[in-house]
Order: sequence, then C-alpha cells, then structure tokens
Amino acid sequence: MSSKKLTTEQALRIILSESEEENGEASDYGNDSDFDSESESYSRSMMQSLPLRLLPRISSATRHVRPIGVMVDIRHFHMDAQTFKMDYPKVLITGGLGQIGTGLAKIMRKRYGKDNVILSDIVKAPKRILDDGPFLYADILDLKNLQNIVVTNKIDWVVHFSALLSAIGEKNVPLALKINVDGLHNILELCKQYHLKLFVPSTIGAFGPDTPRNPTPDLTIQRPRTIYGVSKVHAELMGEYYHAASGLDFRSLRFPGIISADTQPGGGTTDYAVKIFHDALQTGVFNCYLRQDTRLPMMYLADCLRSIVEFMEIPSEQLPMRTYNVGAMSFTPEELVEEVRKYVPHLTTTYSPDGRQAIADSWPEVLDDSNARADWKWEPHYDLAATCKTVFEKLLPSMMSEQITDKPCKGTKELTIANVIDLLVSCET
Ligand SMILES: NC(=O)c1ccc[n+]([C@@H]2O[C@H](COP(=O)([O-])OP(=O)(O)OC[C@H]3O[C@@H](n4cnc5c(N)ncnc54)[C@H](O)[C@@H]3O)[C@@H](O)[C@H]2O)c1
Repeated sequence: MSSKKLTTEQALRIILSESEEENGEASDYGNDSDFDSESESYSRSMMQSLPLRLLPRISSATRHVRPIGVMVDIRHFHMDAQTFKMDYPKVLITGGLGQIGTGLAKIMRKRYGKDNVILSDIVKAPKRILDDGPFLYADILDLKNLQNIVVTNKIDWVVHFSALLSAIGEKNVPLALKINVDGLHNILELCKQYHLKLFVPSTIGAFGPDTPRNPTPDLTIQRPRTIYGVSKVHAELMGEYYHAASGLDFRSLRFPGIISADTQPGGGTTDYAVKIFHDALQTGVFNCYLRQDTRLPMMYLADCLRSIVEFMEIPSEQLPMRTYNVGAMSFTPEELVEEVRKYVPHLTTTYSPDGRQAIADSWPEVLDDSNARADWKWEPHYDLAATCKTVFEKLLPSMMSEQITDKPCKGTKELTIANVIDLLVSCET
C-alpha cells in the first residue's frame, strides 16, 4: 500500500475508481437514511463509493438496523375527496437551526411534503437550509408574529425546539427563564387558540438528585437543580394542564443526550459525546469535562427524530400519557473512549471535571422507557457500537476531503490515503 501523500482529488479519484470495480454490492448500505438527518448527499455518496472491503464493520452495523420505509402510514391522514390529495399536516418548527431541528425538517419534508414543513429560528439560516425548504424568522417571545405565521401558513402542528440548554442556561438564568418559560407560555396559548397539535421535547434534566437514577421511571420525584430542568418540568406540567383543561393535543418526550455527527450541540451537559468524535479525528486528543465513570443515557440523532415522528403520528385517543421517557443506551465517557479507540487507536484522553459534573451527577443513569415501548411501540435502533460506526461513517469522508491534502494535518499523524484506509480497516478488529 502506497503511503505517499495525495491531494484530495487524487485520493478521491483512486477510491472512486476502486469502487467502480465492486459496483452493486453497496446497496445494503444503511437502512435508516430516511430518518437520518445528517446524511449529506456528498458524504453518503462518498461512503457508497468506498470499496466494500474497506467497510466491513460499517456496513454490517447498518445492515442490522430494522428497515423503515419512508412511506407515510396513510391511516393517520385523510384524503381530500375533491382533489384526491393527502391531507398532510402543516408543521412549524421553532428553534429549528439547533442540533435537532434541521434533521427533523428533513425527514418530515420527506413524509409530508417539502412545503408543509416550515423551519424557523431567530438566527440567520445558511444557504443550504434556505435551499432545502421554507424558512422563517420567528421569535417565540413575539406572540403576534407567531399568530401571523400560523394563520398565514395554515399551520396544524408546532414542534417547539427553542430553548436554552442546561450548561448555557446556568450561565444566564434570566434569559433561560424568558426563552424556556415565557416562550413556552406563548406557544401554549398559540396552540390552544388555533387548535394545533404541539410537541415540546423534555429531557433527562427534568429529573434531579432525589430521583431514582437507575432506572428512572416516567412518574417519579422531579426536583431538578438546574434552571433548564426546572423550566422543562414546568413545560411538562403546563402542557398536561392545557391538555386536561382545554383539550390541547400536547405531547412531550424526555430525551437523553443526543449524539449527532455534523450538527453541533447547543450547550448541554452531554455535549462531550459529540465533541469526542471531532477531537479524535482532528487532534487525536480528547479532554473530557466529566469524570470517566459518569453514566448518562444517550441517543443517536436518527432515533431521536424517528421517535418524534412516530409519536406525533399516533392518534390522540391512543395515548394514555402525554409525557414519556424514551431511551436508547447508557454509557460512561470511559466506555465511549474505548469504542472510539476501535476507530482511532491513537486517541489520548484526559479528564478534568468542571461545573457540568454536578449537573450530570444529578441526572438519571438509565431511563425506564417501558411505557413508551408498550403504548406506542417505541424501539431504539442504535446502541453505542452502531452509533460510533455511523458517526465515523459520516465524518470520515468529510475528513478525507478536508484533510487529505499536500499539507500534513495538525497534531495527528500525517493523513495519507494509507492512514485513512488503516483507520477504516481497523474497524474490523
Ligand atoms: N440536544 C440534546 O441533547 C437535547 C436533549 C434533550 C432535549 N433536548 C431539547 O430539544 C430541543 C432542541 O434542542 P437542540 O439541541 O436542537 O437545541 P439548540 O440549543 O441546539 O437549539 C435551540 C435553538 O433555539 C433558538 N432560539 C433561541 N432563542 C429563541 C427565540 N427567542 N425564538 C426562537 N428561537 C430561539 C436558537 O437560535 C437555537 O437555534 C430543546 O428544547 C432541548 O431542550 C435536546
């Protein structure tokens, strides 16, 4: 195997020419792509282009994933008798430019139609987002503007993502109260006034040090110690109150930390589980702000997005509860490092716990999601191994395109095509 340095173009040309020889075998690559927000077509086509012998672990990881069709279950939607068109919901996503929103827009647009899902935020959207479908400025503190958007666009569902997360909320409590509490009040009133279905994500942060931590059931003590957690308990209770008092179709899922490949987390306590992948590939050095034995529940983004869509499509009368735990896996930083080292064996790690350690110590270790599994058949598809494989499968091609140049990359061993292949082949062990 040659170890001479290659330009991006040369490396890609070699890989593409090798893949042509093995064409046709790559069709079992990934079944969850329609629920996987981050699959930029460039990365995906690059991975599909890689010779299959280089993807032994990666392809088998996704092969075990239960196939999900993109076909909409039409039992949940009506057909217009005049036009014969499906009556898909018109969805507004608030705070849509954060870690989770763009992915949800992508899969909902596939299911309900591109123009039926409106992303919104108060920050400027990049061109690729504007090209993907409708985007609006919407400040959740401005009720009049929200009313205007709902009426003008005939909105049926609101997915309310705007929030200040745990670590960032602690740094600015008045702003966290404004966004997470005042903003929520606007959204609840809006949805009540226009009879909209409402989804508000909750979090493991809605539990506290007095909660049983392993496992943590749906109905238990909730005495969080962060303003983020307090605001999420408030959201759960307010939503359930509006449901009971006004019939609002309110739904909430308590998510673990969400792991994504190419969307950045927004300042939560579980962000380390995203940062490690970038650090491993960029510098080979990972400094963790939590102790190595801190066990927390986590979920890969594709599972999170699929849970929202599946939950939102369940008819209201079939839901005995309005707020559910959803789980997928639980691990410690040490266990994550061990899994990441299968791909980046030279990764070095240090642990320097900071203020986020106290937050993590007050959160559940394992979520009991048996009610979600029983009531609406929730089932996660990604465990730790499958998550790592999938994240690397997404990051490696973009790393190759960015870093296989004539310049050696900083802090890591020189990234020649031979080294990248070594990384891929190391997946076999
Ligand atoms: N990411 C996770 O690990 C995780 C875990 C559990 C629950 N959640 C919940 O999921 C939701 C989305 O999380 P995320 O990680 O995408 O958050 P994020 O911090 O990445 O994004 C939040 C978005 O809200 C927007 N926003 C802030 N102020 C606003 C305002 N006044 N009006 C409109 N938008 C405003 C921000 O611009 C940002 O794009 C949040 O409610 C969060 O609590 C996330």
